[in-house]
Amino acid sequence: MNQPALAAHVAHTPEFPVYVTNANLKHWVSEVARLTKPEHIYWCDGSQAEYDRLCSEMVASGTLIRLDQEKRPNSFLARSDPDDVARMEERTFVCSRNQEDAGPNNNWVAPDEMRATLGKLFDGCMRGRTMYVIPYSMGPLGSHIAHIGVEITDSQYVVASMRIMTRIGRKVLDVLGPNGYFVPCLHSVGMPLAAGEKDVPWPSNKDHKYIVHYPETKEIWSFGSGYGGNALLGKKCFALRIASIMAREQGWLAEHMLILGIQPPKGRKHYIAAAFPSACGKTNLAMLIPPKALKGWKVTTVGEDIAWIKPGQDGRLYAINPEAGAFGVAPGTSDKTNRNCMAALKENVIFTNVALTPGGDVWWEGMTAKPPRKLIDWQGKPWTPDCGRKVAHPNARFTVHSGQLPSLDPEWENPDGVPISAFLFGGRRSTTVPLVTEAFNWVHGVYLAATMASETTAAIVGQVGVVRRDPFAMLPFCGYHFGDYFKHWLDMGRAVRHPPRIFGVNWFRVDEHGKFMWPGFGENMRVLKWIVERCEGKAGTRETPLGGMPRFEDLEWKGLKDMTRERFDELMSIDPELWSEELKEHGALFEKLQSRLPRQLALQRELFELSL
Ligand code: GTP
Ligand code: SPV
Ligand code: MN
Repeated sequence: MNQPALAAHVAHTPEFPVYVTNANLKHWVSEVARLTKPEHIYWCDGSQAEYDRLCSEMVASGTLIRLDQEKRPNSFLARSDPDDVARMEERTFVCSRNQEDAGPNNNWVAPDEMRATLGKLFDGCMRGRTMYVIPYSMGPLGSHIAHIGVEITDSQYVVASMRIMTRIGRKVLDVLGPNGYFVPCLHSVGMPLAAGEKDVPWPSNKDHKYIVHYPETKEIWSFGSGYGGNALLGKKCFALRIASIMAREQGWLAEHMLILGIQPPKGRKHYIAAAFPSACGKTNLAMLIPPKALKGWKVTTVGEDIAWIKPGQDGRLYAINPEAGAFGVAPGTSDKTNRNCMAALKENVIFTNVALTPGGDVWWEGMTAKPPRKLIDWQGKPWTPDCGRKVAHPNARFTVHSGQLPSLDPEWENPDGVPISAFLFGGRRSTTVPLVTEAFNWVHGVYLAATMASETTAAIVGQVGVVRRDPFAMLPFCGYHFGDYFKHWLDMGRAVRHPPRIFGVNWFRVDEHGKFMWPGFGENMRVLKWIVERCEGKAGTRETPLGGMPRFEDLEWKGLKDMTRERFDELMSIDPELWSEELKEHGALFEKLQSRLPRQLALQRELFELSL
């Protein structure tokens, strides 16, 4: 570490390290420093030494707790403010010049008005703090599918997390060069410190939170929250909201999708991308371990949250994972549900809002069958199994580098991406939606994805378990009007010679006792196998009003005792009454998007109605 922090008074005319050559970057950093008035400016080089030093500083200040070096080497626990625990959709804005361009799927404020509001909030908001400049690449450095962002933040937790989640530091500036393009991402926890004022472990702003995107200038301004997607701006803000806008302009796709590889015992490897809403099983599916009975099948992980997808020379779609790490849901993760993930979490992890054991390790609901007798809960309070409270926050998460994942696909950093054979779309639906359906064609597949719904989860601040339409699992993440987005998807299907097949899945249907009808997790391999075999034109199917569906004999049942033909029929059943309700919901969604809804989708709905 030989890069000294710059002194306070020079913040107004900052000096730049010699390796910072990008004129726009220098200009922007100067402007931000002038506005936010930090005590120091620090350029992140991305080194291990820098990371270690930041973590030590956070341990000293109380932001991080160092876990036991034997049990969880180089790992830390952070406890957030109880008011700052998840993404806040109500506080997220897309400020396009025209309100119509943001669509009814986004909160909108006129850009001038928002700039005035944020200008006041950011004025002096970094007083008494260090302003960190983090150059980062979304995607392998130099990949033609990758893009560069620069995040300015006053949160050390954000710097450490960004180093795990993305590729950061000097190597990114080298790729950026003097004239390269970057997306400017400004973040502040919104809690300036007066001279001598003591900091709190998790600074945030109780009164004002804003996560703001300007589509035309492709800027991100985030104020007041330090948690996850609100603060790690490479993730949802850039890689989904802003990237979805860039993707439409440039002819590609930015999606809330995992990417996995499937190697059948014999024959060709396939890659599948799957869109499920937040906390609906992307991380689990991406790291799936096939059941013993499906010997020889192997699943590998390319990504577990976001995919950037571009047409390739050969007429197929190619996907990269723009991230370099996972910010995954902790509760429910165990050796039973996700052994690969548990193996990745052995060391070098930042845990947020999980429980602390007396021995200095972590625990969360579902990690082991029996909870330890005594724990410290996510808010730092003593906890016993009978106390009636959750010990980890339901949206507690871990931050871990992809390199630690045993199931990592050898092609995960291929700059050209991996070829996609199939897209999956699925929500959390306790009723109505069968285990798996295959779209008749691309337009029907776009309809299926556009009309999907899911029960809300703890990944968002608000009520849990409410069914809402979540087209393409992108409701909180599409940076523009959903009608235009559907049109873009329809166009992309025509732009490539070999569009992937499209499937709908639902792991979450329950029986009359409220129990999951499908075992899920590793057993999802049985569905993936059918999907791969469909892509190869091998597996059988039958036509239904919803699409193609496997018959009982089309799935592999070896090693799964409980699944009788009757139970399977129930799992696959189409209730005409529920589906006519569903169709009304599709209609209501289309009504909202009416001004820009592609006519193909309205017609597809009519066709569906008539065939039900
Ligand atoms: P984000 O990171 O929020 O975008 O979510 P994600 O889609 O990666 O979510 P994740 O895989 O972490 O989902 C976690 C939740 O889904 C936990 O409650 C799991 O128990 C549940 N889950 C995942 N896979 C399955 C499954 O196959 N069946 C059932 N019943 N639950 C599942
Ligand atoms: C999600 O909510 O879909 C996440 C977590 O992946 S966050 O990064 O907080 O958005
Ligand atoms: Mn996500």
